[in-house]
Amino acid sequence: MGFVAAVVFAVCCWFSHGVAGQEEPIQTFVIPHSHMDVGWVYTIQESMHAYAANVYSSVTEELSKVKERRFIAVEQEFFRLWWDTVASDTQKKQVRQLIKEGRLEFIIGGQVMHDEAVTDLDDDILQMMEGHGFLYETFGVRPQFSWHVDPFGASATTPVLFALAGFNAHLISRIDYDLKDIMQKNKKLQFVWRGSPSLKSQQEIFTHTMDQFSYCTPSYLPFSNCSGFYWNGVALFPDPPKDGVYPNMSLPVTKETVHAYAKTMVENIKQRAAWFRTNHVLWPWGCDKQFYNSSVQFNNMDPLMKYINQNSKEFGVTVQYATLSEYFQTIYQSNLTWEVRGSEDFLPYSTEPYQAWTGFYASRNVLKGVARQASSRLYAAETLFTRYRISFPDGPVAKDWALDKLRALRWAVSEVQHHDGITGTESPKVADMYLQHLLQAMMGAEELLAALFLLPHNLQSPSILGEPDIEQTLEQHVIVYNPLAWNITTIVNVTVTQPSAAVFDDDGQPVPAQIQGSAHSNATYDLFIVVELGGLQYRKYLIKFPENSKAYEAKAVSFERRSVKDRAKAGRLLLPVLSECYELLFDQDTNLLHSITYLEEKRRVMITQDFWEYDANGDVKAGPISDNYIFSANGSAVRAYKAVEMEIIPGKIVTEIRHHIYFGYIFYYAYSITTRVPECFGTKLPCHRLEQTYSLGPLSLNTEVVLRTSTSVKNNRTLYSDDNGYQMMKRTYRKFTNNTLARNYFPMVRTAYIEDDLSRLVLVSDRAHGVSSQTDGQLEVMLHRRLWNNLQWNLGYNLTLNDSSVVRPTLWMMLGSVSATSKLYQREAVQLQHRPVVMPIDQPQKPWQVKEPKRGSPLRSVVLPPNLHLLSLSIPGWNYCSNHSVHLNLHSQPDYDRILLRIMHLFEEGEDPELSKPVTINLKEALQGMGEVKGVEERSLTGTWDIASLQRWKWKTADNLEKDNKQQRRQDDDFTVTISPKEIRTFFVHFVSRNF
Ligand SMILES: *[C@@H]1O[C@H](CO)[C@@H](O)[C@H](O)[C@H]1NC(C)=O
Ligand SMILES: *[C@@H]1O[C@H](CO)[C@@H](O)[C@H](O)[C@H]1NC(C)=O
Repeated sequence: MGFVAAVVFAVCCWFSHGVAGQEEPIQTFVIPHSHMDVGWVYTIQESMHAYAANVYSSVTEELSKVKERRFIAVEQEFFRLWWDTVASDTQKKQVRQLIKEGRLEFIIGGQVMHDEAVTDLDDDILQMMEGHGFLYETFGVRPQFSWHVDPFGASATTPVLFALAGFNAHLISRIDYDLKDIMQKNKKLQFVWRGSPSLKSQQEIFTHTMDQFSYCTPSYLPFSNCSGFYWNGVALFPDPPKDGVYPNMSLPVTKETVHAYAKTMVENIKQRAAWFRTNHVLWPWGCDKQFYNSSVQFNNMDPLMKYINQNSKEFGVTVQYATLSEYFQTIYQSNLTWEVRGSEDFLPYSTEPYQAWTGFYASRNVLKGVARQASSRLYAAETLFTRYRISFPDGPVAKDWALDKLRALRWAVSEVQHHDGITGTESPKVADMYLQHLLQAMMGAEELLAALFLLPHNLQSPSILGEPDIEQTLEQHVIVYNPLAWNITTIVNVTVTQPSAAVFDDDGQPVPAQIQGSAHSNATYDLFIVVELGGLQYRKYLIKFPENSKAYEAKAVSFERRSVKDRAKAGRLLLPVLSECYELLFDQDTNLLHSITYLEEKRRVMITQDFWEYDANGDVKAGPISDNYIFSANGSAVRAYKAVEMEIIPGKIVTEIRHHIYFGYIFYYAYSITTRVPECFGTKLPCHRLEQTYSLGPLSLNTEVVLRTSTSVKNNRTLYSDDNGYQMMKRTYRKFTNNTLARNYFPMVRTAYIEDDLSRLVLVSDRAHGVSSQTDGQLEVMLHRRLWNNLQWNLGYNLTLNDSSVVRPTLWMMLGSVSATSKLYQREAVQLQHRPVVMPIDQPQKPWQVKEPKRGSPLRSVVLPPNLHLLSLSIPGWNYCSNHSVHLNLHSQPDYDRILLRIMHLFEEGEDPELSKPVTINLKEALQGMGEVKGVEERSLTGTWDIASLQRWKWKTADNLEKDNKQQRRQDDDFTVTISPKEIRTFFVHFVSRNF
């Protein structure tokens, strides 16, 4: 069937396009580019010094010399560093001129080329907005094409985001080798991608998949032992060579060599032309770390291209320097009708039969966790600062200082989204660099949060006049901020050093609380406090440490250690833990979870959880290895332990179940699970959320650990996991000739679930992991990996993953009917990402009930409907002017009055009878808790386009006719918007100034 389709296809194209290969020469678009990993083997600073700065300096110079030359600048981080710290005034002038002439073109425009498998859409949007804001403000340009040549697989969310940002075409490269092969043969590398099943054609985008040569030029030249079309050789670290002579520089193009070069290039062009429907070949000229010495590059390519064009009749090929937009422009004008791809993604990704790039989903768990934490901190700081600016434009928190803190964290969070950043595929020193940038910027954001919390409803500035009082030293004050635009009731955990406590809210009323010895330390106590907060509100809580605890003091009950050897008796003694939603049973013969009954339907599901390990091969001579990219199981997983201990701490707010997992009968345990079951009967506290935190590590070498949740759910090894937290993907188990285990691993960014007709088990996560269902009823999450191998390439670049850290990821588990969990999991995932910010503050010198007459939060709540999520609320600080040419001359203060608001509908069409409906809200009313809205302007995803003036290219598809352009748009001076399933809508909002 595939064969017939291919023939029909070829015939149809032949006629519709009417191009006969022999007559018309192939038109080749030679696109000069340099793939510059922001941080991979070398740090940003090392890369800037060794080559990255030279790329922009030398390209600027060389393009200015010859008007045919072109270059595409792909990521912004290096460019911005060059622009701010290296570029001379002359170079800046030249750059502006080159951009004007369309010869230097910014592609993607984000800070980095973000990873597609393990990043969250919040951060993908952030890093794009960060780069787009800079480009628009500085040059007035808005990138309209992507160049995702290196991310390890392609997500279906990326094309949606790029479409929303106003892009006209998308470009990917790394997809399964066997699939690419078929697509090449059938000329199906280009298609129109409808990444979202709800948004469909509304946000579709033309997508070009690079052929098997990908983004590099062929490096094999039959007549040369050097490196092909890379006349500048390879970059040298740590210092560029003083004499300008780099290693591996190719033979120059001379009278003697030009024909051989031309022949090689033409053959390659013809080979590629056969895989595409039109007579145009995209010929990327470059690779990793190229064009740091552009004069050598262009001075050799110029005569070579001239030679080919002079002989184009004979070669059947013409060549020209081009930007990416020139290539896409030409394809667009060919007026062909393109096949449509639905919302399937290209994950996971394999390069060869035993090379499944599914290991990086779990590589460097700590970095993945910190990156998400930093993103969540940024979100909280952005929302709070925005509220503060609207309410107190002349308040005492210096706005420039505040914006600097936010910008630093935006930069750090953007940077780590790089496809060798959050993926965990970088060298150890680069991982440390990312961590350091994140942690430093997070500290800045904490300072900002602290300043915003304490002001303007001034706690008295610390005074030494306060009477010394023993009571006072036994007090602690915390502020709890809910950064979401929903009201919440939840439990926060404050670590304290006293065994008994009492908690009061800011009205002096006692608050339900529970205290117990901490799960992870003998010296501290966990104090659980039930907090009720409105959307975007914070409250202060006072913790006192009296002798007689008002908080419920929970005491642990320990259960005798059970060995795996004694499993035969299992199932006799079942110990229940009951909440309003569930009955959990624990088996006293195994000390493991036995089953969970969800009480709403009184349905029991057998569930047990434990840890298993894959033993990785580290010897390249003994078969395929696992490394930071690749997962290559050396057989199936084995049980990771010999014995289990259990402790149950029955509580009035939470019941905690602690599992300590032992390798052997020794005192030391390496793994643990802490499960918290909310116990608040009859309160607003949601009971469906079972919170689990795991502790693992340090692992022994060449170990990959998975948490296995084995259930009676008949999922037939099908699972669902999310693309970037935006949408769920169905992952059907597939059998392959080779490597079936590793190729059935998938990324989980926020959510994974398994289900049958009756029940669904959902996990939501605070960081990315790999997930799989290798056996019916099983959901396996890879949490941590430590690997060492003897592959020369890995060793040379220090890319073995000898990660000896202890990791503590959190998953929330939910069980219920498919319809009940459909209502919950999206919001739960968002709530896990944006847990309340708990911040200790200095204690005021006076007892605060006296000093603080104000009741409740100083901020009014802001609440969106349950299916809408406040995706962003921030003050970007950009200076844009609606008159496109004017804003380039603005060199004023950052704009503190332009508020960026982004709202997302969390549900897919048809997912829930109620929650999937389009929602109409009046923004003026929805935001009135913040201030009085004066004006609203709808913008593209990254804010750079007025949505009314944004016209993306419409690529022809067979079903063009049924395209509904029913974009319901807001009328001017009406504040009502309707947000449909999975829509993300971005606005600039202006508030009435409160300056007097
Ligand atoms: C495609 O259509 C456009 C407008 O309809 C036209 O200007 C252009 O010449 C066409 N291109 C080809 C290759 O037919
Ligand atoms: C949210 O909480 C606030 C109080 O903090 C309350 O005034 C408001 O009515 C609540 N809104 C909703 C939708 O529950």
